[in-house]
Amino acid sequence: MLLSLIFGIALLGACSQNDNKMNDMDQSTMEHEMDDDMMEGHMDHDDEVSLNDSTGKNELKIPKELEQDEKSKEIVYTVQAQKGKTEIFDGTQTDTIGYNGAFLGPMLRFNKGDIVKIKTINELDEETTFHWHGLEVAGDADGGPHSALQPGEEKVIEFKVDQEAATLWFHPHPNGKTSEQVYNGLAGLIYIEDENSKSLGLPNKYGQNDIPLIFQDRTFDDERQLNYDAAMNDDGTIGDTLLINGTLNPKLTVKKEKVRLRLLNGSNARNYTFKMNSGDSFTQVATDGGFLNDPVTLEEITLTPSERAEIVVDFSSLDTSDDLALIDEEGSILLPFDVSEQGEKAGEITEEMNQFTITEKEMNLPVTKKVELYGMMDKVTINGKKFDPERIDFTQEQGVTEVWEIYNKPDEMGGMIHPFHIHGTQFKILSRNGKEPSKSEQGWKDTISVEPDETVKVAVQFQHKGVYMFHCHILEHEDNGMMGQIKVE
Ligand code: C2O
Ligand code: CU
Ligand code: CU
Repeated sequence: MLLSLIFGIALLGACSQNDNKMNDMDQSTMEHEMDDDMMEGHMDHDDEVSLNDSTGKNELKIPKELEQDEKSKEIVYTVQAQKGKTEIFDGTQTDTIGYNGAFLGPMLRFNKGDIVKIKTINELDEETTFHWHGLEVAGDADGGPHSALQPGEEKVIEFKVDQEAATLWFHPHPNGKTSEQVYNGLAGLIYIEDENSKSLGLPNKYGQNDIPLIFQDRTFDDERQLNYDAAMNDDGTIGDTLLINGTLNPKLTVKKEKVRLRLLNGSNARNYTFKMNSGDSFTQVATDGGFLNDPVTLEEITLTPSERAEIVVDFSSLDTSDDLALIDEEGSILLPFDVSEQGEKAGEITEEMNQFTITEKEMNLPVTKKVELYGMMDKVTINGKKFDPERIDFTQEQGVTEVWEIYNKPDEMGGMIHPFHIHGTQFKILSRNGKEPSKSEQGWKDTISVEPDETVKVAVQFQHKGVYMFHCHILEHEDNGMMGQIKVE
């Protein structure tokens, strides 16, 4: 309490001194010298480690749906970060951390309109925060780096769920330590439901035909431990071993019916292009923050870290005589499907699922915020600067839409994709390099992939007040300072 008060005052002070005007942002000059570090970094990244094929030995684990503390009018949950040991490999205990358990976390289901109270508890031996990625809540409930809980501390946050049905997630955000804590196991899911989501005829039996898939690649050492320091790469830690919902060598048993897969790229840095090994298409129904207006038929979909998509695979119409699996762009087997029993006769997915619109007015708004992403390894910056908790980079008025222009400035060696995320809002992509985004991105987003030399315009509005982070969601880039702050007032 006292701590957050002090932070609050510090922020207010920082804000009035450093209020950034557009002109300042335009003038940001970035001269970077090449050094050996950057060379090495590029080598590392070109040598991407492929994922081992899943043998399909273990049935996919499904995160438990978190029960409310008690059934009352108030909706109260307890979420506790804690240490534990997990048998990821048969017969071996791996040190992990999790929420309300040893590894990863439960799924929290909210309904639009709910007033939710969450008691957050830190039982780790280091500070952490509880960040609700994609949730539109006031800055003091958002769980950014200013909201650190020390070991043993707890804090109750309260908010009204006031956004449409979507698949969101939560993870820690302590300053400089986010990547390690996520890597070691802190991540959980949020499902938001509303009247619309219940009436679309989408598969909704949790764990049966409505399946969350949290993709995380890891490196295990000889003792089969997650040794973050050994695996760490400043350009984003990747690994050869894929865990889905914490399951090693997962397979998913499904019926011959439509199955909804809620894909979450929960990796520190790896991008995934998902496809069926049979070449069959599937249907995308949702983006990060809500349903698409119309289902989109795709043969593959790419998600950068923290992006989500909901897809529906119709197993009743697929040839299941061959082994079906979800694979990545290199053909690595991510998730084999065991399709046995006959399922329900699949209904049609409603055509008009949502009313997502971009108005003329939004299209014609001038750009009032510019974000330049630049660099690699520990040289990453936004508008030439590294994160400073004492500095407010932007201000924006609550409820007012502004157009942000995100540019990924290539370096001497080409540069790399940066997944750009803004807290506390779901925004709209207006254009990518001046062109309309693909159908697959014509919906609410909180994270976008930005390719080298690409310019993406987004229309951003905040429903609440507070200080929010915006950053690259390669977690090591975030920890290395590729993050800024906006104060919404
Ligand atoms: Cu997934 Cu700063 O967030
Ligand atoms: Cu976030
Ligand atoms: Cu980055």
